[in-house]
Formats: sequence, C-alpha cells, structure tokens
Amino acid sequence: MMIRLVFAILLLAVAGGSYAAGGGDENLDSVHINLSDRASLQKGAATFASYCLSCHGIKFMRYNRMAEDLGISDDVLRSNFLQPSQKPGDVMDVNMSEEDAKRWFGTAPPDLSLIARSRSPEWVYTFLRSFRVDENSNTGWDNDLFADVAMPHVLYRVQENSTREEYDRVVRDLTNFLVYVAEPAKLVRYNIGIWVLIFTAVFTVLAYYLKKEYWKDIH
Ligand code: HEC
Repeated sequence: MMIRLVFAILLLAVAGGSYAAGGGDENLDSVHINLSDRASLQKGAATFASYCLSCHGIKFMRYNRMAEDLGISDDVLRSNFLQPSQKPGDVMDVNMSEEDAKRWFGTAPPDLSLIARSRSPEWVYTFLRSFRVDENSNTGWDNDLFADVAMPHVLYRVQENSTREEYDRVVRDLTNFLVYVAEPAKLVRYNIGIWVLIFTAVFTVLAYYLKKEYWKDIH
C-alpha cells in the first residue's frame, strides 16, 4: 500500500514534467514539448541565437536569466551567445532597428517572447517546417502555413543537410525553447514541484515508520 502510494507520487512527478501538446487545429503537426529536457532547451537556445536573434528579439528575457534557467555556463554564454559588446545582464534584444527591418523585409520581424502563447507551440513547429521555394516572392520563399510570409527560410541549409527526422528535432528543440521563453516561471515551478514531491514521498515513508515505532508497544 505504502509502496504503491510512493510510486504513484513519483509517477505524477515524471508525468507532470512533459506533455505532448495536442493541437486543436488539425492542419498543425503536434510537437512533443518537454521543459524538463535541458539538452533540448539548450540546443533550442543555441539555434535561436545563431539563426533567429539577428532579426527577432526576445526582449522579456535576459541572457543571464536564460543561462541560469537552462544550466548554460558563464564561459559558454560568453563564447556562444554574447557579442563582445554585450553583457550577461543584457536583454536578448535584436540589433537591427525597426526602420531598417521594415525597409528590408516590408514588415518588421516581431519580438518572439510570447509567440508560443500568442500562436501555439504546434503553430511555430509547423510554420518552421512549411517553407518552400517560390521564385516570385521577394525572398525566394513562401510558407504553406503563412502565405506570402516576409521571412526567408533561414534554416534552409540546416534542412538541406539533415534527414527529415533530424530537421524535425532541430525545430522541436527550438519550439521547446520558445515555450520556455514564453513562460519561464513554468520551468522554475516545475523544478520546485519535483522537490516538493520528493520531499512528500520521503516524508510519507518516514511518517509510516515513525507511526509503526510509536504503536509497537500498544498493539
Ligand atoms: C532575416 C530576418 C529573419 C530571420 C533571421 C528570422 N526571421 Fe522570423 N520573421 C521575419 C519577418 C520579416 C517576419 C514577419 C513575416 C510577415 O509578417 O510576413 C517573421 C515572422 C516570424 C514568425 C511569425 C510571427 C507571427 O506570428 O506573425 C515566426 C514564428 C518566426 N518569424 C520565427 C523565426 C525563427 C524561429 C527564426 C530562427 C530560426 C526566425 N524567425 C528567423 C524575419 C526573420
């Protein structure tokens, strides 16, 4: 009985960490979001910094907050994420001015801090896997989910050099990262939640033996 209870609590802890987001819209592909998968979040952050941050900011996030949340060391943060002029406490904003962006793309690339909530994880995941060549468009690309999109297919070299599964994984990690960015507190809550559950489990076992000890002479 006791053992089963402890198992149930631990199972809940594991299940709570990941959820497969099922899309309401049937045109969207479902994506496995897992905020406890640190390696995935770190890879997503690296892809974002290399391929997206030149146009899109995530201005609700600071570099050092992200590094702390995702377990990115100070050295890696400085060598892989920060420009020489940037400091760890800077917000993850984009260098391009809005006027320049409008001039180049016709539309300013939006800030992506909340994109996983304003669209959905499934939307972002499907969007990044729906680019196709279109010779008539300004960028040379169009998107099956977002017609006449002003954004070029910035991941096309990655897609070209990967299998379908590999590319899906890159985009999934990137989406996972954007889900974290849209609600960083969720990650912290999750981490606290795990400790609460472990404490509860250990405490339950202790309480059980303590009770046995107390009642031993009475029975
Ligand atoms: C060269 C600049 C550029 C880069 C780099 C870029 N984007 Fe974009 N992106 C844009 C522009 C411009 C738009 C606006 C498209 C429109 O409204 O037609 C956009 C739109 C988007 C949207 C849709 C926003 C919405 O809801 O309207 C998402 C999501 C997005 N980008 C994600 C990304 C991700 C993820 C990356 C990195 C892999 C990335 N972008 C890299 C220029 C860029």
